[in-house]
Amino acid sequence: MALERLPILELKNLCKTYELKGHRAVDALKAVHLELYPGECLGIVGESGSGKSTLARCITHLERVNSGQIQYRQQDITRLNGKLLRQQRKQIQMVFQEPSAIFNPRMKIGAFIREPLINYKIMKGQKAEQEVLRLLERVGLSAATADKYPHELSGGEQQRAVIARAIGVEPDIILFDEATSALDVSIQQQILDLLVELRKETGISSIFISHDLAVVQQVSDRIAVMYQGEVVEVVESSRLTSSANHPYTRSLMSSVLSVREMRYRMQGQRQKQEREQAEIFQESLSG
Ligand SMILES: Nc1ncnc2c1ncn2[C@@H]1O[C@H](COP(=O)(O)OP(=O)(O)OP(=O)(O)O)[C@@H](O)[C@H]1O
Ligand SMILES: [Mg+2]
Repeated sequence: MALERLPILELKNLCKTYELKGHRAVDALKAVHLELYPGECLGIVGESGSGKSTLARCITHLERVNSGQIQYRQQDITRLNGKLLRQQRKQIQMVFQEPSAIFNPRMKIGAFIREPLINYKIMKGQKAEQEVLRLLERVGLSAATADKYPHELSGGEQQRAVIARAIGVEPDIILFDEATSALDVSIQQQILDLLVELRKETGISSIFISHDLAVVQQVSDRIAVMYQGEVVEVVESSRLTSSANHPYTRSLMSSVLSVREMRYRMQGQRQKQEREQAEIFQESLSG
C-alpha cells in the first residue's frame, strides 16, 4: 500500500479581518482550510477581492492572521518572527505580479540572483558566480543577462530573473501571485511553460494564484476556488469541466476577467500596497 503523503503546508481555519478606521471591517479570509502536498501545484482562482493575495500574504507572514493555524511540515509557523521567520522565508518564496517592484535599479541581474545565495550562506565566490550562470540558463536567459541592469530587460525577462532568484535558495514552496498577469499573452504563455518545466525538474511545490481560471488550469494539479474570503470548492484540474459543482466555479469558467480589466483594478492603492509588500519580502533575501 502506498504511504499516505503528509501535506508540506496546511492551512487550518485561517481568518483575516482588515479593520480600517471609519470603514466597515472586511473579512478577507473566513476559515480557510487548504493543504499543499509535496511536489504539487495548487492553483487558487477567484474574482478580484476574493482574498487570494491576502491568503498568500498570510502564508508568507506579510500579514498576520487573526486566528487559525499555518503548519509547515507539521510544525506550527503561524506566529513566527525574527530570525526564525527569516529562515522560514527561505523555504517559502514568493513571486509577485510586478517584478519591477523588487529590483534595485542599480543592481545588475547577476548580483540580484547571487545576493540570496550569499546572504543565506549557500555559496560564495566563484561557485556563486557559476551558480548564477546555471540559474540564468535554467530560466531561459543568456549568460550575458548577468551583466545587465533591470531596465534593460523586458517584463518577461525580468520575471524570469525573479524566478531564478527564487529557485536559487532551493525553497520548498514558491507562491506565485498573479505572476504572469501583467505580461502580454504570448509572453505569459512562455512563463507558464517555464513554470511547468521547472516543476518537473525541481519538484518544488507551488501555489499559483490568478484571477484567470484558464491560466491556473494550465499549471495546477488541483484548483481551490475562492469567493468572498472562502474556499468554496477544490477541484482536480484535469477534471474541472466535468466535476466542478459550485455555481460560482461554473460562472468563473465562462467569464474570465480580461487582463486589461485586471490591470485597471490593480491600479492605485492596491498596487502601491503590493509594491511595498514585495519590498518587505525581498529585504529578507537582501540581508
Ligand atoms: N491592506 C488592506 N486593508 C484593507 N482591506 C484590504 C487590504 N488588503 C486587502 N483588503 C481587502 O480584502 C479583500 C481581499 O483582498 P485581496 O487583495 O486578498 O483580493 P484578491 O483576490 O487578491 O484580488 P485581486 O484579484 O484583485 O488581486 C478585498 O475586499 C480587499 O479590498
Ligand atoms: Mg490579488
